[in-house]
Amino acid sequence: MRRPLVAGNWKMHGTRASVAELIEGLRHLQLPGDVEVVVFPSSLHVGQVVAGLESSVIAVGAQDCAVDPMPGALTGEVAASQLLDAGCALVLVGHSERRLILGESDAVVARKFAAAQACGLLPVLCLGETLAQREAGQTLEVVTRQLGGVLEELGIGAFVSAVVAYEPVWAIGTGLTASAQQAQEVHAAIRQQLAAENAEIACGVRILYGGSVKAVNAVELFGMPDIDGGLIGGASLNADEFGAICRAAGN
Ligand code: 13P
Repeated sequence: MRRPLVAGNWKMHGTRASVAELIEGLRHLQLPGDVEVVVFPSSLHVGQVVAGLESSVIAVGAQDCAVDPMPGALTGEVAASQLLDAGCALVLVGHSERRLILGESDAVVARKFAAAQACGLLPVLCLGETLAQREAGQTLEVVTRQLGGVLEELGIGAFVSAVVAYEPVWAIGTGLTASAQQAQEVHAAIRQQLAAENAEIACGVRILYGGSVKAVNAVELFGMPDIDGGLIGGASLNADEFGAICRAAGN
């Protein structure tokens, strides 16, 4: 039985003041006990959020980590070991904004995934196709290649402690959500690709859906057999909306 996970990716948003307000809202939420909840603030705000959510059930993660796990000479980057030290438990790797805007390759993403695990952080591996790729019928090919980048490099054993997030690029921040059926089809293909290596491990991996998830569409999405929760962008910046999405995962 996979425990649902709802994750809020705050992206490059927030000031100390707005983050304090969001923390206050999160602390007052009624959250379902059977759902794991995590927020991913900018690395600048990780310390503030870890302190603010102390004694709350909500975990904190980072949005990215360096390819090398340990501290060193790499200006501007943050090592997974530093994130762990700061109180993070998870880290996103391979978000489409980083792949597409910053040119992160599958190879770089695999190194970040390994760096996270080497430090005991749970990596959340993000996958997803662009609109052009979907329209060209390449969705499964793209997602298979992205997942394969980690699978071939690190092996199926790496997925015992990892989460996968399917986020179609065309659904991110656009208000366009993949239909529950469209999302389920890709989630099932992801699980099948993992199952071809080891069925038991594949069965235990949580696969989140992301892309314009709101309280109104969350119930249907989370009701699909291979959708184990969500990775929420815009809607996670509103504590009440985020709480409603968390409750939808518990239904
Ligand atoms: P939105 O929920 O704003 O579409 O963002 C999804 C996302 O990219 C989460 O990582």
